[in-house]
Amino acid sequence: MISGVQADAFVEAHGPVGRLDIRKAVMRDIPPILDLINSYAAKGIMLSRTEFEMSEAIRDFTVVTQGSSLLGCGALHFYSPTVAEIRSLAVAGHAKTQGVGRKLVSALISEAQAFELDAVFAFTYVEQFFQKVGFQVVERGALPLKAWKDCLRCPKFQACDEIAVLRVLRPGRWNESQSPIWGETYAADDLIQLPIPLKIPSVPSN
Ligand SMILES: CC(C)(COP(=O)(O)OP(=O)(O)OC[C@H]1O[C@@H](n2cnc3c(N)ncnc32)[C@H](O)[C@@H]1OP(=O)(O)O)[C@@H](O)C(=O)NCCC(=O)NCCS
Repeated sequence: MISGVQADAFVEAHGPVGRLDIRKAVMRDIPPILDLINSYAAKGIMLSRTEFEMSEAIRDFTVVTQGSSLLGCGALHFYSPTVAEIRSLAVAGHAKTQGVGRKLVSALISEAQAFELDAVFAFTYVEQFFQKVGFQVVERGALPLKAWKDCLRCPKFQACDEIAVLRVLRPGRWNESQSPIWGETYAADDLIQLPIPLKIPSVPSN
C-alpha cells in the first residue's frame, strides 16, 4: 500500500506560512482546485479544467492545505508504464515562494518512485523553478508522443512557447529506453504532430 494515496494520510510540515498539510486530493477539493487552476488559465499560464475532467483525474492530484484553505495542487499523470507528467501544478498567489511548490513536486516524485517510473516530465513556462527541484530542460522530441495529446486543444498549438523539462528517476532504465528505434515501437495512434515551437524573431546586433 502506498501511504501517499490515502486521502487521510496527512504529512505535516511547518513553513513560513504556518502548518501545512499535504495529501492526496479528494472530491471536496475539486471546487478550490478548479478556482486555482482556472485563475491561472485566465492569464494564459495554464490549461483550463472542467469539473468533469477534474472528477476523472482527481486521483492524479496531491494538494497542500492550511486549515480549510487550499494553497496548492499538482497532478501526476501516467502516460506509459515508465513515464508520467507533472501537470496542473499551481500555488495560490499569497503562498508563492514559500516552499509549497517544492513540497508538491517532492510528493509527486515520491509517488512516481513508488510506482517505479523511470522518469517524470513537465511542460512549463517556469523552467527555473523546475531546475531548482531537480529537472533539466530537454528537447521536446525526447518525450513520448503521447505526452502531446493535451496540446491538441491548446490555443497555443501553432506557436508553442512551453519548455519541456525532465527528471530521470532510474537513469539506467531510462537510457536503455532511449535507443534509436525507441520511437518506432509506438502504435499509429501515437503519431500526432508536435506543437510548433514559437519562433522568436532574432534581434539584429549593432
Ligand atoms: C511555479 C510555482 C508552482 C512555484 O511554486 P512556489 O511555491 O512559489 O515555489 P517554491 O517556493 O517551492 O520554490 C522552490 C524554488 O524555486 C524558486 N522559484 C519559484 N518560482 C520561481 C520562478 N517563477 N522563477 C524562478 N524560480 C522560482 C524559488 O525561489 C525556490 O528557490 P530556492 O529553493 O533556491 O529558494 C508557482 O509560482 C505557480 O503556481 N505559478 C503559476 C502556475 C504555474 O506556472 N505552474 C507551473 C505549470 S507547469
